[in-house]
Amino acid sequence: MRTYTNVKDLDDLNAAVKEALEIKKNRYAYKHLGENRTLLMVFFNSSLRTRLSTQKAGMNLGMNTMVLDINQGAWKLETERGVIMDGDKSEHILEAIPVMGSYCDIIGVRAFAQFENKEDDYQEKILNQFIRYSGKPVFSMEAATGHPLQAFADLITIEEYKKSARPKVVLTWAPHPKALPQAVPNSFADFMNEADVDFVITHPEGYELDSKFVRGAKVEYNQDKALAGADFVYAKNWAAYADPNYGKILSKDTSWTVTTGKMALTNNAYFMHCLPVRRNMIVSDDVIESPQSIVIQEAANREISAQTVIKRMLENL
Ligand code: CP
Repeated sequence: MRTYTNVKDLDDLNAAVKEALEIKKNRYAYKHLGENRTLLMVFFNSSLRTRLSTQKAGMNLGMNTMVLDINQGAWKLETERGVIMDGDKSEHILEAIPVMGSYCDIIGVRAFAQFENKEDDYQEKILNQFIRYSGKPVFSMEAATGHPLQAFADLITIEEYKKSARPKVVLTWAPHPKALPQAVPNSFADFMNEADVDFVITHPEGYELDSKFVRGAKVEYNQDKALAGADFVYAKNWAAYADPNYGKILSKDTSWTVTTGKMALTNNAYFMHCLPVRRNMIVSDDVIESPQSIVIQEAANREISAQTVIKRMLENL
């Protein structure tokens, strides 16, 4: 594997989940693969889970790991070509990327959508420059339009907890005070559309996601109807995608918050969220603290999804 930016990079998804579950049983069995290899993780945005789980995954594989926080101590980077650099940006990303590549064997990049220009966000300008100019295998640690390590961990978690061969999985929008990117719901939809699940997306009108990710999934605007009989409820906020409202908050309707009343509509569903989560906006205290909440197990599987991806990259070096 040379790049990991979406579900297609895993090829056979069932085989990838199987491999991940094998790795989970013995996560230190592949230490030889990473000997004298270096993982560089570059963060343009904040992180708790991705930073720790990916670093742990690299260490499980015997790698040396380095973390660069672009906004804390690195030179401020110019990302546009042709700009006269007479402002506050000291270094161009076109020099910075190959330099970073020269110090490592594999690079993970986190670069969120900026909501300034939809085309730039959906062209994955920053991630793709790393792929093009670093000379090294690159994986997404959440980019503008996708969070494939999260979605892979979500699928592993569903595989571990499902009680039927084809569970009903509902992705529900929920309110949030800030405008959040569509990366997590995009990737979750991308993975669920490839998985053996009955997948439904529910959100208020105006929050339609890019059809490239929704594909043939059922979209139900009535949250109660969508939740009926669900085996897994995956809550997430996202800002509007469709023009002219790209990046805007259209609703903070707390009737979409996942409460015990909402969970009572389901088939005793498990509650999932990628975290961090705003309690009593996205989900009530009662639900996230209930035995049906598997958010911690889901976060723990981030180590496994990252390790599976990095292992495949190491095997291909
Ligand atoms: N879910 C997730 O990516 O968490 P962090 O933003 O803390 O890395």
